[in-house]
Amino acid sequence: MSGVELFFPDPLFCDASMSKISPSLGVCYYPEHWSEDMWAEDARRMVTCGLKYVRIAEFAWSRFEPARDRFDFEWLDRAIEILGNAGLNVVMCTPSATPPKWLVEEMPDMVAIEANGNPRKWGSRRHYDFSHKGYRRECVRIAEILAKRYGENPFVAAWQIDNEYGCHDTTLSYSDAACIGFRDWLAQKYQSPDALNRAWGNVFWSMEVSDFNEVELPNLTVTEPNPSHVLDFRRYSSDQVVEFNRLQVDVLRRLAPGRDLIHNFMGKFLEFDHFDVGADLDVASWDSYPLGNLERFGRDDAWKNWYLRAGDPDFQAFHHDLYRGCGQGRMWVMEQQPGPVNWAPWNPAPHKGMVRLWSHEAFAHGAEVVSYFRWRQAPFAQEQFHAALNRPDGSADLAYEEAQQVAGELKKLGDGAADLESRQSRVALVFDYPSQWATEIQPQGEDYDGFRIALDWYGELRRAGQNIDIVAPSSDFDGYDLVVVPHLLMLDDDFVARARNSGARFLFGPRSGSRTPAHQIPANLAPGQLQDLVNLKVLRTESLRSGIVEPVEEQGAFLRWFEHVEADTTADVQLRTSSGTPAYVAAQKASYIAGWPNEQLLKHVVQTELKNAGLAILETGEDLRIRDRGNLRTIVNYAHKQRDASHLIGSGDEIVVGEATLEPGGVTILRRG
Ligand code: GAL
Repeated sequence: MSGVELFFPDPLFCDASMSKISPSLGVCYYPEHWSEDMWAEDARRMVTCGLKYVRIAEFAWSRFEPARDRFDFEWLDRAIEILGNAGLNVVMCTPSATPPKWLVEEMPDMVAIEANGNPRKWGSRRHYDFSHKGYRRECVRIAEILAKRYGENPFVAAWQIDNEYGCHDTTLSYSDAACIGFRDWLAQKYQSPDALNRAWGNVFWSMEVSDFNEVELPNLTVTEPNPSHVLDFRRYSSDQVVEFNRLQVDVLRRLAPGRDLIHNFMGKFLEFDHFDVGADLDVASWDSYPLGNLERFGRDDAWKNWYLRAGDPDFQAFHHDLYRGCGQGRMWVMEQQPGPVNWAPWNPAPHKGMVRLWSHEAFAHGAEVVSYFRWRQAPFAQEQFHAALNRPDGSADLAYEEAQQVAGELKKLGDGAADLESRQSRVALVFDYPSQWATEIQPQGEDYDGFRIALDWYGELRRAGQNIDIVAPSSDFDGYDLVVVPHLLMLDDDFVARARNSGARFLFGPRSGSRTPAHQIPANLAPGQLQDLVNLKVLRTESLRSGIVEPVEEQGAFLRWFEHVEADTTADVQLRTSSGTPAYVAAQKASYIAGWPNEQLLKHVVQTELKNAGLAILETGEDLRIRDRGNLRTIVNYAHKQRDASHLIGSGDEIVVGEATLEPGGVTILRRG
């Protein structure tokens, strides 16, 4: 490796804790998919396009270790050399998402077992069980071999560990390895079978155990298993992902000093606690597929049709903010949708400009790198329908042009864009994974969806022009003016103390504090320890089928879920339901909303809370969204129609990119005056 001068700022010289990498573009590349004589030209064109990062090798295990201990790294050495010499920073991956066939044959019990008892077969990817000790050892072995070879390679700037933990329903496994691990985990947690029996309420239906080895995994039961049992199994399974990741982190910290360690999370993926995994990483990245995710998770058909070629206007931003929180302030988009994907029920193409919009929006939310998936569309195997920056014949596809345009615009933005999260947002939204699990275990209403509530609240805050941090319940709330807590079922005294001692106002959503950490109803009824903060008690809950609403005094209605609440005389009941029960209650420090608000009610409550917290509201309008970062304001248009954004531009602001009127997919970036 000769002493080549990189064209771009070397991230190794950046201060990792301060996220000072200037916003850059990247791409996912699979040199093993193409003949070697194409690599140099590919690298040259990546640089011409304005890309600075290239992620490689996450699925290449069978190529560099075709049989146990038979290695072929020379091709990978040459690929890194070519990419690096062209001026690209390489993101090297550990390959644990795709264990090769010979390894699965050596350890057939390393695959995960589905809830119905069927083993997942080798033949695609992620065919492994997080609890399997033998596979963990194999991952450490291969990570060490790779890190010894490339850990200090000057062209390797960062490492991605594995690929999309849990994708394809692989977090939960009902294997023997999981069963043994779970019993051990329970023994450590509860210390005695009696303590476990009490925590789970095992006297119900005669489920008491006298030994931890009597505990089974919660699948294949005749009717629903005990929710406390399932919740502990979800916690255990989440901890396995954390441990699995940490093993490779430890290897790379030792052998790849100074390199950022990253994992690529997914959209609306809730099966493990991403804050816990993120705590061991330097950067939390995620794979952003706005149209695929809209098709899968979008609200309803009208919504999906309206945003067909743009994606949900808040879904991407929510995840940028969530993963920035999981990465202690540092976030990348490791895979950015470039055109139609292959995996949603329907796979429309983005309209012109959307790839550019998604990229700028990610930077506005603090992304350091946006990396497109992938360089060239694969003419073989599973993803033949998946677009890329280039078509299978190598010709530039539409996203290539848009990426190139973004690269040019980033240069124009200069230093302003590099000024990352210099100011903390004044609004925080608390997101909690275990609360999500608890409502999946006992939804108590077919369409109850805690994530949906959090996303709706987030969208309402955004339509009011707010910058939002998404934080874990264990966060420090100092510095915020308003903390919204849409969906925190389980909390502890420490949370209440931090909330009470912070200077912020709090807004709590339905089901807050409604379960103890062991998944029991609190002795003083919901909202448990929060009663002191919100001055009310929940006496009864109801879920409502679609089409049935509970009106709330001229301000909207509750849908799907509402609570019969008794408020203290000290509480200020702002709104009541048509049955006369308190619907929206404000106490000195915190407010509570006793149901799932429809759009009108949510807007009323969010705007009231923002005003009470002393925050200015800047209504963006339905399809426009804004985000401020450093001295820049980015405005994006998610509509397939023109939109005027003059009301979002201050008199002293300078337009650096775009115009006051935004075309569909339009982006306008202002330097604030
Ligand atoms: C991601 C995955 C990539 C590729 C992509 C297609 O989930 O990490 O390997 O499959 O989806 O959209």
